[in-house]
Amino acid sequence: MERNFNPCVVEILGAYWGDEGKGRAAFFESQDAHLVLRTTGGDNAGHTVYFKGEKIPLHLIPSGIIWPQTTAVICNGVVINPVILYEEIQMLSKYVDITPEKLLISGSANMILPYHIDLDGIQERKRGNQKIGTTNRGIGPCYSFKSDRFSLRMHDVFRDEKDLIELIKLNLKNREEEFRKAGLTYSVEEIYEYCMEAKRNLGKFIGNPDLVLWPAIRDGKKVVIEGAQADRLDLEVGDSPYCTSSYCNPSGTLSGAGIGPKFANKIIATVKAYCSRVGNGPFPTIQNNDAGDTIRRLGHEYGTTTGRPRDCGYLDLVPINPLRGYTDLCLNHLDTIGLIGKEIGCIYICTAYIYQGEKITYYPDDISVTKEIPTPLYEKTFNGGWEIPEGCKSFEDLPKKAQEFVEFIEEFTQTPVSIIGIGPRNEDTIIR
Ligand code: IMO
Ligand code: MG
Repeated sequence: MERNFNPCVVEILGAYWGDEGKGRAAFFESQDAHLVLRTTGGDNAGHTVYFKGEKIPLHLIPSGIIWPQTTAVICNGVVINPVILYEEIQMLSKYVDITPEKLLISGSANMILPYHIDLDGIQERKRGNQKIGTTNRGIGPCYSFKSDRFSLRMHDVFRDEKDLIELIKLNLKNREEEFRKAGLTYSVEEIYEYCMEAKRNLGKFIGNPDLVLWPAIRDGKKVVIEGAQADRLDLEVGDSPYCTSSYCNPSGTLSGAGIGPKFANKIIATVKAYCSRVGNGPFPTIQNNDAGDTIRRLGHEYGTTTGRPRDCGYLDLVPINPLRGYTDLCLNHLDTIGLIGKEIGCIYICTAYIYQGEKITYYPDDISVTKEIPTPLYEKTFNGGWEIPEGCKSFEDLPKKAQEFVEFIEEFTQTPVSIIGIGPRNEDTIIR
């Protein structure tokens, strides 16, 4: 028997703590894609794309939906707030005709319910000074109900009335005591009505993604997965407990659509020319000083989802873990880091840490136990900065120092930088 298959799935992931600019890589990779998918996370994600000169902030719908030939699929691994998703559909309808052929929502995806959002806030308060700094979208509690196997999935809105009411009662019973202690009450009727509204607004989009995924993959058509969150926020391999509640590493991102690993063709890790983090948790190269303020100001580092100012610091290559098997890097803000260098005089790249008195070149997995933030070693520095010249189209058009910056990253990570962002608009991109 012949072994015959076409690896045609492209994954776009964040290599750090989110907000690396996955939208840019998604925009380019999706232009010739057949399917564009979201497979993990929920509306904690905020992806900005620029379309016909307008800035479009997206939370749940993969941004590749803006290309005419794509079908967007929100897969089983996503947790869906139906109110937010409906708002997003309405907002996008200005640009794209959103029909059930254009957007498919997995019936198996779990639904975020009002009590998940309330519980998110309660759990954060319980943590006192060890808050995670969540986006307060109910993400963690929704995934926790899912693991408890007390959840409402999108296709549950099609159950008959009696059956759905039974299921809602069971869900409420799961955390009855917790709700009572917190003084929270939810009526079965209110949750039922919430589900009916989801059915009215989203029902026609709900279906089984396997039925479009398999024919596409079987025929070798391009499938792009727009990852959410990032490697250090991954529940399995990230900075637990300062992480999100889904698996946003390359394997988890496939799992959220039920796609087997043999179909992955390209695994793009998105990075910025500096680092940022929002929410709490370790951030070795953080700059709580003028340099950090300059990066934030020049990079416009404020959350898309929450508007929170992001912590900023120098580029850290240590968290890019070779074990993940990234095939490509997408480097954003090469223009910004040049301007930062011009303003603050010197830019740094971290290539190792001092941790527990030793030099290490990997990201430690026990920071939460030792409570020691690794001290960055900046073994590569660039004096001054650069400005991207008008009309820059190719790598060769970049200032020498900017080329050196890119080549250093490639050499160190042994991974080609195949997409480079040199400005906020999509056209400000070098594809290699
Ligand atoms: P995109 O896809 C940046 C962070 C939160 C918090 C932690 C847990 O835009 O890169 P959660 O609400 O998920 O329980 O919060 O994860 N976080 C993100 N940070 N970008 C994101 O998504 C994030 N999604 C979650 O700030 O620290
Ligand atoms: Mg974001």
